[in-house]
Amino acid sequence: MADEPTRISILGLGYVGAVSAACFAKLGFEIIGVDIDANKSERLNRGDAPVLEHGLTELVAEQHRAGRIQATTDALAAVLGSDISLVCVGTPSAANGSLNMDYVERVCGQIGEALGQKLSKNEGYHVVVIRSTVLPGTVEERLIPILENASGKRVGVDFGVVQNPEFLREGTAIQDFFHPPKTVIGANDEKSGQFVSRLYEKIDAPLFVTDIGVASVVKYADNAFHAVKITFGNEIGRFCKKLGIDSHEVMQIFCEDRKLNISPAYLRPGFAFGGSCLPKDLRALLYRGRNLDLEFPFLSGLLPSNKLQIETLVEELKPYRHDGVGFLGLSFKPGTDDLRESPIVSVAEALLGKGAEVRIHDPNLVISALVGSNLRYIMSEIPHLGNLLKESPEPVIRASQAIVVSHNTELFQRAVLQTRPDQIVFDLVRLPNAEQIPARYVGLYW
Ligand SMILES: NC(=O)c1ccc[n+]([C@@H]2O[C@H](COP(=O)([O-])OP(=O)(O)OC[C@H]3O[C@@H](n4cnc5c(N)ncnc54)[C@H](O)[C@@H]3O)[C@@H](O)[C@H]2O)c1
Repeated sequence: MADEPTRISILGLGYVGAVSAACFAKLGFEIIGVDIDANKSERLNRGDAPVLEHGLTELVAEQHRAGRIQATTDALAAVLGSDISLVCVGTPSAANGSLNMDYVERVCGQIGEALGQKLSKNEGYHVVVIRSTVLPGTVEERLIPILENASGKRVGVDFGVVQNPEFLREGTAIQDFFHPPKTVIGANDEKSGQFVSRLYEKIDAPLFVTDIGVASVVKYADNAFHAVKITFGNEIGRFCKKLGIDSHEVMQIFCEDRKLNISPAYLRPGFAFGGSCLPKDLRALLYRGRNLDLEFPFLSGLLPSNKLQIETLVEELKPYRHDGVGFLGLSFKPGTDDLRESPIVSVAEALLGKGAEVRIHDPNLVISALVGSNLRYIMSEIPHLGNLLKESPEPVIRASQAIVVSHNTELFQRAVLQTRPDQIVFDLVRLPNAEQIPARYVGLYW
């Protein structure tokens, strides 16, 4: 392998491939484009853009004149003449929503055959970069075996495979290429990750080198989140319009909130939401919407999704009900004694209903210290749980087979270190000291 990749073969000259060809050429790389559609490869080969994209015609012409772009329909020749191959073929939706992987698989077979020849002649290491959007697991379970079988060589030893999702948007693709929000390189071996990183040395964007699994999900999380944002804005817009309120002014003020709205707040996977406001206000908004004959399919899905989280945890804890389930934390978040609509209360109640032995400690809910409305709430609304509250974590841990941690506090981080190997800890908050916990450990979504 050359120390620096200089020659790039690009397989698939649609939007992603054609833009990548022109832009990597602009960065100084030698490009050989490949498309089974001879019309596209011929166009690129004579300095014409194979697809319509703002600024692409000029950039392709400029780079073709500079001698940095050529194209062919011959994948074998292109791979043999390059250090790195970018897979940019389409992955369209099939009728049932699944991805059509035919093009990606076929092109990997072709690259594999070429690699077999190239590597047998000892013509250097080669990295195959999957830029097409493919689901998690696809690269490891489907594409690497195809590449290995077709080449007779081994990934990570003879050649590298990297997943490098593309974030460009049609219409602003060239601008997005040079100024992407981020570059994500998923590699399961360091050498290939570093090699591909060099392609992006001149790109002004945060670079994340991670494993293939993370890189593949980042792409889907991004696009799902963009769809969430659009749909959320539109449902709030529909609500506003019906009420004669300016939706754009609402969302402008909403977006100015960089602490809780446009921020990382609430975006880490964890347990269900609850408390005295979120469920109540969401229900009120949906009820008002119904009165106005408005449907909000997206917002209406939130409470059922939240309920599913509670039900799933109850199911996971059910096997331990006769040997005791302990809860460290009962309120919906640390630092409050407010138990209204705490999802942990729902979990504890459901388990009690199934005959579980339950013990609970919450430092803000020590009965002997409670006064006023919260004591009244516990004694009138949930006396069955009030009686199970312990004054410290120790009795909960001592007597429970399964221990559920729902507050990420120093008290509970210390407490879980007292567990025994025959116990199990269910962590709903991603405790920072999880690795030191003596008990068997289950992270909620990690
Ligand atoms: N278009 C976008 O804005 C965008 C953005 C990010 C990611 N992506 C992803 O990138 C991938 C490519 O998207 P696109 O919009 O560029 O697709 P596209 O349909 O425009 O282009 C795909 C090209 O691949 C060619 N091709 C098919 N099989 C081939 C083979 N065996 N050898 C060589 N060429 C072959 C086709 O002829 C076609 O020209 C998809 O997975 C897509 O989801 C697209």
